[in-house]
Amino acid sequence: MDFGRARRAVLQLLGATAPADVPALLHWMRTTRDFDEFTQDNNDIMLKNIADDLRSCLPQEAVLCSEQLALQKIRQQPEPTVHVDAFLYDEDVIDSLCEEGKMSRNYCTACGSHQTAPLGFISHSFSLEELKFIYQHVLPDLSGKVLVDIGSRLGTVLYAGYLYSSAVQLYGVELNGEFCQLQEMVIKKYQFGDRIKVLHADICTQGSLLQSADVIVMNNVFEYFLTEPQQARTIHLPPPLAIPALASI
Ligand SMILES: C[S@@+](CC[C@H](N)C(=O)[O-])C[C@H]1O[C@@H](n2cnc3c(N)ncnc32)[C@H](O)[C@@H]1O
Repeated sequence: MDFGRARRAVLQLLGATAPADVPALLHWMRTTRDFDEFTQDNNDIMLKNIADDLRSCLPQEAVLCSEQLALQKIRQQPEPTVHVDAFLYDEDVIDSLCEEGKMSRNYCTACGSHQTAPLGFISHSFSLEELKFIYQHVLPDLSGKVLVDIGSRLGTVLYAGYLYSSAVQLYGVELNGEFCQLQEMVIKKYQFGDRIKVLHADICTQGSLLQSADVIVMNNVFEYFLTEPQQARTIHLPPPLAIPALASI
């Protein structure tokens, strides 16, 4: 069916719907996620495949044993909280894991009772929807621009930038060597190496890279991964190491 016929069929269907139900039908059409499978483009599918690959290489919490400080800070949250990476686990994946009993959205407030309360979820990555929104609606055209993601972790900002922007170069700087290896694996498998580079380094040593950047992305980089004195030192570096701006063009 071509566009014209499909459009007429949809209008016909609306015409045949009980008038009292039309507002509810229109509301559903405007807000439902049931159409997602028709609007997903190849780039979304590629990012979902990357999430599948990364999930199979990581523990469910997607926090590594080498990240003791992050683990400790999650445990210190006032309410019971788990790390659920928003890029690796979208709502549908979380629902299926909950159904299989492998994940829970709730915790028991009184051991042995049926009283439960929602668990806090913390993510150390942007979700696919957030990444698309950033590249398609927040940032301007990045043709010829250089983007640096401080603390690139799984590399999601870089892969989405490769697929959804024309940035000439996307740099990730990541302190944790194991995450750098994971990013290298994805870059190789999906052949992103012409525009993505990952540096295993402390951002404090990357003053000239930061000076050359047109856009700098910082997604809650330091709070969970550095002690407070380390955070203070990192954001108060003297020029030329000072971070010029959170995002600039
Ligand atoms: C919250 S994650 C950000 C993930 C990713 N940028 C995103 O938005 O999806 C923060 C990452 O920053 C890294 N990190 C923390 N301090 C850093 C530093 N001084 N230099 C480089 N990376 C750092 C951590 O190891 C962690 O993987």
